[in-house]
This record gives sequence, C-alpha cells and structure tokens, in this order.
Amino acid sequence: MENTEQINTMPRIGDKAPAFKAVTTQGEINFPADYAGKWVILFSHPADFTPVCTSEFMTFAHMEPEFNALNCSLVGLSVDGLYSHIAWLRTIKEKIEYKGMKDIEVTFPLIEDITMDVAKKYGMIQPGESSTKAVRAVFFIDPAGTIRAMIYYPLSMGRNFDEIKRALIAMQAADKYAIATPADWKPGDDVIIPTAGSCGVAKERMENKDEMTCHDWFFCTKPLAKEKIDALGTTA
Ligand code: BEZ
Repeated sequence: MENTEQINTMPRIGDKAPAFKAVTTQGEINFPADYAGKWVILFSHPADFTPVCTSEFMTFAHMEPEFNALNCSLVGLSVDGLYSHIAWLRTIKEKIEYKGMKDIEVTFPLIEDITMDVAKKYGMIQPGESSTKAVRAVFFIDPAGTIRAMIYYPLSMGRNFDEIKRALIAMQAADKYAIATPADWKPGDDVIIPTAGSCGVAKERMENKDEMTCHDWFFCTKPLAKEKIDALGTTA
C-alpha cells in the first residue's frame, strides 16, 4: 500500500479492529486477539513528556479500576519509543501530583510505535494536525473485536474521561437491554425504546404500557434502573 493511502486509512464503526503485534510497556501484545471477550479502549496520545498527555494518563490510570469493572481494558499508544515511555511513566509516578492524584502507576500497556505502523492503521496520523505525532484518538472495541465508536481530538485538547466512560456504559446498556440512549443520557435516566418496526417491539410496548412514556409514536422512553446499569460489568 502507498504511504499516503496508509496515512489516509480510517477504520469505521462496524469494522473489525485492525490487527497488529506490538511491543508495550507490559510486554508484547497481539491485538485484538489478546483481548477477546473484553471491551478495549485503544487510545493514542501525541507525545510522552508533554503536559496535556500527562494529565490524561494520570486520569486514565486513576480511573482504570472503573473501566476494568466494566470488563474493559485500556491500551495506550504513541509514536515514542519504549525507553521514553518507561522514563515518562516513572516520572509521573515519582514526581507528578495533579488534582489530588499522586503516586500514579500506569499498569496498562503503552505501545511503542516509532514506525507509526499501528497509528497509520487506525487513522491516528492526521497530517493537517501533525504528520509526526498521533492525534488524541479513542477507539471503543467490543468483545468480538468490532469497532463500536471512535472519538478524535486535536493535540491541544485533553479528553473528557467521564464522557469516555459514559459512552462505554451506553453501548453496553444498548447491547444488553436492546435500547438506545437519548441526548446527554447518564445511568439512571430513562432510555429510548427503538421504533416499533417489529412484532417483538410492538408486543413489548403493549406489555409495558404503564412504564412507557410516548412523546409521539416514534419517540417512546422507559425507565432503566441505575442498579441494572451499575451491574453491567458483572453480568453476562
Ligand atoms: C500536550 O500533551 O501537552 C501536547 C502534546 C503535543 C502537542 C501539544 C500539546
């Protein structure tokens, strides 16, 4: 494949996650095969030893138990080398205190990608922004290895980790309960019942009339208890 074609590759929602083998701070990984049966958030950052990325890594590491509780593993990537990654993560642990977070140990894998092979496969090199650094990409990959959502941010903007967690939970809830989530949905809010295009949905509507609110025939919502959402990572 030509170099420009490689750079222009942009995986899409519904595609299988492009496969690769890579060296990481936690040893070699075979992606996404090593993560079969789990959700994965694969994310890139522009460069080690930079401030926005440092704030993001500390936040991701601080929240890692919350993602793991949702059956979700984290995998980071930048086009820096392994020794830079190791030195940066050690500096974060030993020296950086930020917003009440300190002594932060990053235990999820951080991929070294000096060849940019992985970054190019995932459309993380966006030359209009930078041809030498990955943008801030976030890929949500489901337990079957399918890309379910992606978010890209420019170099200057740190990510919103509450939104990343909310997006993961919303997709897991949609899968488990065959619902959709409205604007600004958060766990405990009412969810959307898909438009009645099938007998199953129509039957469910007849049976659950009492708990359903219909704003019109195409826009019906129902409660979905926060406890059910909170249990998502623990149930099949
Ligand atoms: C940062 O993480 O602070 C950063 C990295 C690359 C370009 C601009 C900012």
